[in-house]
Amino acid sequence: MTGKRFIVTGGAGYIGSHVCVELVKAGCQALVIDNFANSSPKALDRIAEIAGEGVTLLKADLADPADEARIIDAVKAYKPDGAVHLAGLKAVGESVVEPVRYYSVNLPATFTLIRALEAANARLIVFSSSATVYGDLNQSPVDEKGATGATNPYGRTKFFIEEMLNDLARADARWKICNLRYFNPVGAHPSGKIGEDPNGVPNNLFPFIAQVAVGRLPKLKVFGNDYPTRDGTGIRDYIHVVDLAAGHVAALNYLTREEAPGAVVYNLGAGRGISVLEAIAAFKRASNRDIPFEIAPRREGDIAEIYASPDKANRDLGWKATKTLEDMCADHWRWQSGNPNGYRD
Ligand code: WQD
Repeated sequence: MTGKRFIVTGGAGYIGSHVCVELVKAGCQALVIDNFANSSPKALDRIAEIAGEGVTLLKADLADPADEARIIDAVKAYKPDGAVHLAGLKAVGESVVEPVRYYSVNLPATFTLIRALEAANARLIVFSSSATVYGDLNQSPVDEKGATGATNPYGRTKFFIEEMLNDLARADARWKICNLRYFNPVGAHPSGKIGEDPNGVPNNLFPFIAQVAVGRLPKLKVFGNDYPTRDGTGIRDYIHVVDLAAGHVAALNYLTREEAPGAVVYNLGAGRGISVLEAIAAFKRASNRDIPFEIAPRREGDIAEIYASPDKANRDLGWKATKTLEDMCADHWRWQSGNPNGYRD
């Protein structure tokens, strides 16, 4: 991979910044396309502090037609080998309230990226998909043959984009596509310099717990303790964001070395489930802070339990998650305690 150059859309974001660090560490360069709608330019400075130079920026909105020509020109000039496509709206609850906004951002952003890569003759995309494309399967571990059935507009945009990329690869064999279905990314780079910095009150469990631990939020609500699970609370497959980012480098390696892989799909999960109460206890140990919580009603749309079978990615990509729940909590806490207000400090 040394010397390869990739477009990283959403590269200033939580997952994207960690992907950029791993790409630079692998001897690659990255052109980040980001509109900073849910990210900070400071993340790019921190990437350089961690991994050195190698990342350049194009501030643009992939979903804005007025930016398309500028984006295509910049991508052609960069002469990339492909792209990692992370840019998009990603809040499940928000997508239920504003479905058309989600479709009118996530889909057109992908069309623009495809047109830019075609113009640059760089027909390779690793796409940030999500385990949300699986419905309520009621059986874990989930492998890539699991029935899809997204239950919210956000998840449907991810599923539609996967299917569109699959159709593109079927129509034109020059395209190489890898859809990566993330389970629950948490944690932060061990340096504590980059991490999750959600706008507003976090929807997701780990950033919420971290903000309670650091004193930004008073108490956590545990959404239901009457699920059919070992302790009654929801079980998910939390995966360290550095493991997840390494999965992207492994996917790019796979696509660049395979002659004609077409479109492939992999789960990126650790392959084991952790409950809400277990996560709270682990974060208390890592932070040595109290995490006040109360049991609240179930959250609409939540399922009891889901975790990945990561065997296919292990077999084909030579990738597996290595970091523990303790690593995730310690690294997330180091980021949060060092940056109580995220990049706003
Ligand atoms: C995890 C568990 C909650 C918050 C979502 C998206 C998915 C992906 C990851 C983008 C559940 C419980 C949560 C809280 C709680 N995002 N919880 N109190 O819902 O599994 O997945 O984020 O790709 O697409 O669907 O993650 O962190 O919101 O919830 O009790 O304040 O924590 O009920 O059991 P989820 P989550």
